Amino acid sequence: MHYAIAPSILSANFANLAHDVGLVEKAGAEYLHIDVMDGHFVPNITIGPAVVAALRPHSKMIFDVHLMIEKPEKYIQDFARAGADLITVHAEATVHLHSLLQQIRATGCRAGIALNPSTPLEVLDYVLELTDLVLVMTVNPGFGGQEFISAVLPKISRLKEKLQAARCKALIQVDGGINVRTAAAVARAGADILVAGSAVFGAADPAAAIAQIREAARS
Ligand code: DX5
Ligand code: ZN
Repeated sequence: MHYAIAPSILSANFANLAHDVGLVEKAGAEYLHIDVMDGHFVPNITIGPAVVAALRPHSKMIFDVHLMIEKPEKYIQDFARAGADLITVHAEATVHLHSLLQQIRATGCRAGIALNPSTPLEVLDYVLELTDLVLVMTVNPGFGGQEFISAVLPKISRLKEKLQAARCKALIQVDGGINVRTAAAVARAGADILVAGSAVFGAADPAAAIAQIREAARS
């Protein structure tokens, strides 16, 4: 099984982003995970469409935009135009999930749904046909470098079963506290894509860190 790695630039050097993005692309990362926070849905404030647009010419990786913002429907068009390939919205951040996913797909981007640790899988019912990816949060969103919440592991396995039962091809992405110690359990539970921020960009050698996480996932 091949596990895709999505380094999160939240832990990269913001004064030298293009360099850091180049490092992980050369190391074979498939996705570039871009954490967008608005200071409302989560306490932190991070990246907007201008940064996504500035990075776009520097990379061919899949730009995986994780929106941790209120009223995500207002910004889909902006992130799509900036160069997102995949836009993931939090189920908790909208009361109109179905139409939001339609809106994302209409831009030509793939559509993802993110679930906070305490959000049940039932929110996915009735929208699976519009879903290309489900992001299972294994920390409370807002900051990099937090501890992995292992109580969420059974949710990943149940999600895998649910997708198979529905013959849904959506990918499972796991985000938060992923490192060489947690990758194997997440992979075993059914993850396809592993997001890692501090474990990659906090390492002395990010390329080696990616290889080690991939290896740990396979073990
Ligand atoms: C958390 C973000 C994550 C974060 C992961 O709110 O969604 O993508 O960057 O960071 P680590 O891998 O350090 O937990
Ligand atoms: Zn994220």
